[in-house]
Amino acid sequence: MIPVVKGTRDILPDEALRWQYVESALRRLLELYGYKEVRTPLIEREQLFAKGTGESTDIVQKEMYNFTDKSGERVTLRPEATPSMVRAFVEHNLGQVMLVPKLYSFGPMFRYERPQKGRYRQFHQLDVEVFGVSDPAIDAEILEMAWTLVCELVPSRAELVVNSVGCKSCRPMFSSALLESLGDRVSELCGDCQRRSKINPLRIFDCKVPRDQPIIDALPHSIDYLCKDCRVHFDAVLSQISDYDIPHRLSHRLVRGLDYYTRTTFEVLIEGMGAQNAVLGGGRYDGLVRHLGGPDCPGIGFAVGLERLVNTLAERVAISNPPAVFLVAIGDDARLVMLTLIRELRQAGFSTQMDYDARSLKTQMKRADRSGAPCVLILGSDELARNEITVREMRTGNQRSISKTALLEYLGEALPEWTGKSESNGLVQE
Ligand code: HAM
Repeated sequence: MIPVVKGTRDILPDEALRWQYVESALRRLLELYGYKEVRTPLIEREQLFAKGTGESTDIVQKEMYNFTDKSGERVTLRPEATPSMVRAFVEHNLGQVMLVPKLYSFGPMFRYERPQKGRYRQFHQLDVEVFGVSDPAIDAEILEMAWTLVCELVPSRAELVVNSVGCKSCRPMFSSALLESLGDRVSELCGDCQRRSKINPLRIFDCKVPRDQPIIDALPHSIDYLCKDCRVHFDAVLSQISDYDIPHRLSHRLVRGLDYYTRTTFEVLIEGMGAQNAVLGGGRYDGLVRHLGGPDCPGIGFAVGLERLVNTLAERVAISNPPAVFLVAIGDDARLVMLTLIRELRQAGFSTQMDYDARSLKTQMKRADRSGAPCVLILGSDELARNEITVREMRTGNQRSISKTALLEYLGEALPEWTGKSESNGLVQE
């Protein structure tokens, strides 16, 4: 057996149902807020991330799956979606085509990280981006939506953390203040932080090395160095989310591990998830579109880590999707009729299963029970002779004979009540 690659995993049928449940809940919300789906390739030019995600980030420094393809082109398995979304936005001129480009995308990302619970080398994100709006109203709407979508799936254990990292005019002052405050103590920090202090001192806040923390905790805070415009913007965002009654905590350490952020940054954390407790992260990136060759166009967005969201759901919700109908046939003649009936039932929209191996009535009934189908159709020689079929409601054990011609109509009326399926996604929440 050739096992799965380290840091990647199979999503098996029971878990896949939870993914479908989460994805359909998310899609429903995205539609409410006016987002449109885009699907971008999993491979992009290496340069897109080196330039977009940023040379000083851990992603670009250590975590990308880069390779040279047969034509000699350097390509990368995307580690995040934002640069790809910006590329698609610019390449297809979506700023002209769409009234307000509000885009989303689902899919796998690849980062060569040390795998642990909640951290994988192939993982999945819902990525959400809005282009062309600089008003703080969109920051607040994005925060409200991020909060709503996490709370819908993980009620009561989420925390929204917010910060502002300033813009290209005030950031240099903050970077200098960081270096000044560090002074000679730079040499006491870990090797990564010493490197970060040279390329982008803000990245020092990403450090997880315990020995460095007392020094980092004493560093200045970005919100004390905001220029007037950034301050006004941030105050408006905070005031709007307070009006929305969204609980939040300010954290000066939330600079986020990617280079493109300006002004608002945020994460949603889930209590009790261990070290990998950020289920969602994002922020504003007003210089990125231009930096990647597009027009001067602001942007803001976030990404949800779907594994982390599905994991939290797994602890609370059992989901199944049993067939609506299970067919039981006794004898060869009945079996032949069943084979035709199963097709008719599916064509009429009833999910249907049967026991293919023509076992005893008892075994077939056991299988029908295990399938979870609310309705079992039984066909034996008596039924065949009368051109009828026995319909059994599994929950109550009630049975009745129905003529074959009336069957589809009868099921159409009875099944919605017997299944209890939610209309939106066809899954049963147990
Ligand atoms: P990020 O914080 O790198 O941001 O990732 C967003 C989310 O993806 C994290 O909060 C986490 O839930 C999940 N995630 C990240 N790495 C892993 C991993 N190795 N295994 C499992 N889950 C993971 C971004 O990717 C930005 N592109 C978000 C953004 C969009 N900012 C603006 N627009």
